[in-house]
Amino acid sequence: MRIDIITVLPELLESPFSHSIMKRAQTKGLLEVYTHNVRDHTPYKHGQVDDYQFGGGAGMVMMPEPLALIIEKLQSERKYDEVLYMTPDGELFEQRTANVLSLKESLIIICGHYKGIDERIREHFVTREISIGDYVLSGGELAAAVVVDAIGRLLPGVLNDETSALMDSFQDGLLAPPVYTRPADFRGWKVPDQLLSGDPKIIDAWRHDQSVKRTGERRPGLIEDEGNE
Ligand code: ADE
Repeated sequence: MRIDIITVLPELLESPFSHSIMKRAQTKGLLEVYTHNVRDHTPYKHGQVDDYQFGGGAGMVMMPEPLALIIEKLQSERKYDEVLYMTPDGELFEQRTANVLSLKESLIIICGHYKGIDERIREHFVTREISIGDYVLSGGELAAAVVVDAIGRLLPGVLNDETSALMDSFQDGLLAPPVYTRPADFRGWKVPDQLLSGDPKIIDAWRHDQSVKRTGERRPGLIEDEGNE
């Protein structure tokens, strides 16, 4: 999968993809992430990329021309499945969104800044608008990093044990069960007997019960949502 991220702050996106699973995904050639600095593509003087909003009001708006030039350049080089725009008024990003997007070959992600991007880019280029939660970040970069991470780890071959993504919270509409490691007795706090039983049936049943219990206690809406689909 190839992901091209359009941003005014490419530095913010260096670290999230340079470590751990995201690094491995790229080293293995399963994921390619490129960042494009809007300032390198602006036709305006002094690297201008934003301007005052028509109608007045505080906050600058990212100008359409530099964004359109980058998107068109990328689209002339290859076909993209989606052009995403990270914005707090987009659809809420959930595990199911990550699952769907992980099946795509190529994505463009636009990170907004200041007051956001000119509406005409949203109307004419963007195919999907995504919010990572009901709060406002200073820019779309951290949101884009979240989305790329959530998608990247789902690509076949990225995780060592491919079943482990299937066991994640949300994959089956339930939160993940508790996990333990050695020692089996830590300060008198013991690992549940079922996990030490060595019997896969007992272990699976315990994990499932714990998932259901945890989901019911913490996120009952997940179980109700499932029933409504
Ligand atoms: N940009 C600013 N806030 C955001 C959010 N919550 N989700 C996605 N992009 C954003």
